Formats: sequence, C-alpha cells, structure tokens
Amino acid sequence: MLRTADLSVEKINKLLQEADEFSKGKVLKAKSEIYVSNLFFEDSTRTKTSFDVAERKLGLNVVPFDISASSVNKGESLYDTVKTMKSLGIDLCVIRHKKEKFYDEFKGIDISIINGGDGTGNHPSQNILDLMTIQQEFGKFKGLKVGIVGDVKHSRVANSNAEVLRKLGAKVYFSGPEQWFDEGTIINGTYLSIDDLVKEVDVLMLLRIQYERHESDEQLKLSPEKYHRKFGLTVDREKAMKKEAIIMHPAPINRGVEIADELVECKRSRIFKQMENGVFARMAILKTALEAKGFEFE
Ligand code: CP
Repeated sequence: MLRTADLSVEKINKLLQEADEFSKGKVLKAKSEIYVSNLFFEDSTRTKTSFDVAERKLGLNVVPFDISASSVNKGESLYDTVKTMKSLGIDLCVIRHKKEKFYDEFKGIDISIINGGDGTGNHPSQNILDLMTIQQEFGKFKGLKVGIVGDVKHSRVANSNAEVLRKLGAKVYFSGPEQWFDEGTIINGTYLSIDDLVKEVDVLMLLRIQYERHESDEQLKLSPEKYHRKFGLTVDREKAMKKEAIIMHPAPINRGVEIADELVECKRSRIFKQMENGVFARMAILKTALEAKGFEFE
C-alpha cells in the first residue's frame, strides 16, 4: 500500500472492517512461511514498532534491518537495497524514506511494498489508524467536521488524512501559521483561525512542528511558548470545543507547543488510542498486501 487516496472507498472500508475485527480479538496466522523486513531510513517509534508487532501477530517472519549497520552506509542505493531484499527471499518490505514517492523506483521488482511514510508525501498506515479511531467514535465520516492544525505544509499525515477524509464525505478545516499553507497545500479545505476552528470541529487533529523539514525561510521566529499561545491547543481553547469533540495527534508530541501538556491525556484525547489502533490497522494492511500476492491466512 502506497497511498490510501488511490484506494476505492470500498477498499478503505474493507481495511477498516478488518482492523476492527483484529481489535476485537480476531486471530489469523500465515498459512506458509512469509518473510518481511522493515526498512526505516527515517526515525520512528510508533510506525516501526507497531508494524513489528502486527507482523508477529500474523505469524510472519520478521527479518531485522538496521540502516545504521547496513551497506546503505557504504553508498548502496535504495533500489539496490530493495532488490537485494528480494534476492534474499524477503516477500514484503515496509519502508520509510525522506524521498517523496520513493516507491516509484521499485516498479521492476516483484516485492510487496508498504509505505511507512514518504517525506512530506503520504503516511497511509497512519491514515487508516486515524480513520479507525474516528469511526470508533462517531460511526461515520460523512458530514463530520475535521480540523487539521499546525505544520500542514510539511505533514504527510495531513496530506493523507485531508484527501481521504474528503473522499469519505467529511469537511476538512485547517489552521496554523499561514506561511505553512502554500498554494496547493489546501485543496478544497477551509482555513480558520484556531479560536474559530476549535468551536467548529468534531475532530481536532493536531500536528507536530516538523523542524527537520523546514527550509530556513520557513522557520517561524516564534518561541515554543509563543507558538502555543498563537496556534496551539491551550487549556482555554479546549474548553471552547464541542462537548463530544475529540483530540487526535499522530505523535510524537511536543508537549506544551501544539498541545498543552495537561491535555495530552485528557478525557477527550484519543492520542494513545490511535497508537493502540495502529497495530490493528497495520495487521489489516499487511494481510491485504500479502493476500494480493497470493499468500493465505487461517
Ligand atoms: N506517527 C508516527 O508516524 O510516529 P513515528 O514517527 O514514531 O513512527
């Protein structure tokens, strides 16, 4: 799976249904030996670990791959690394890489690829777990108002979620520093000030400031405290949210910057629920990708 936006609504719903069944205790194991490897060229805690857990729950053979001790450091290309994995008998790779659409170069290699995040492009497995979390809460997407707030321009999570949520009938709002909203960043979305947005939305999705992706001219001349006051979810703004509205964040979180420290685990926060759902969403994604290659589960 490379981009959820390329999937039909029917296929997205099937993934959500499978993920829901796994979350309720459904057990499935691979019927044959399947070898998988997680190649993370960018740092990760949640995505890499939850894929690892999901793979083991499905009875897959997980082959460790540590970039820092690999021949990538001798200059081996991404293409040659993946081609090597195929030659060694790996059936599926989960890959995170800073290059957008890194997967385009593997078209000639007969190996399943799951996109674990491509630069500022997309983060499909995060998208499925976010959809799962929203569906558990509201049972629908149509008519829901979802606010995506913060560093939208550099966020693959924002890209994936905005596109797919609209496809499923939700209305998407944005907020955050205006210099992070280039032409083209917001397609068919509505920009609101954070004070207006918090009152409007059913789902408030906060984003981490991705300092590591900023060009020097995009850097805000704001301290973390000032960012929090101007654009973050403060304790007062949380009080203005709708009664049933929920807070989401893909994490890692900059506590006290995009969200007040004491709100990270507040009653309406679903941030750790998202992480829990990540394992089940990734089980559904792995199973679907492997079944497409003819592998079976029982
Ligand atoms: N949400 C997310 O992708 O977290 P990690 O970078 O820790 O995988």
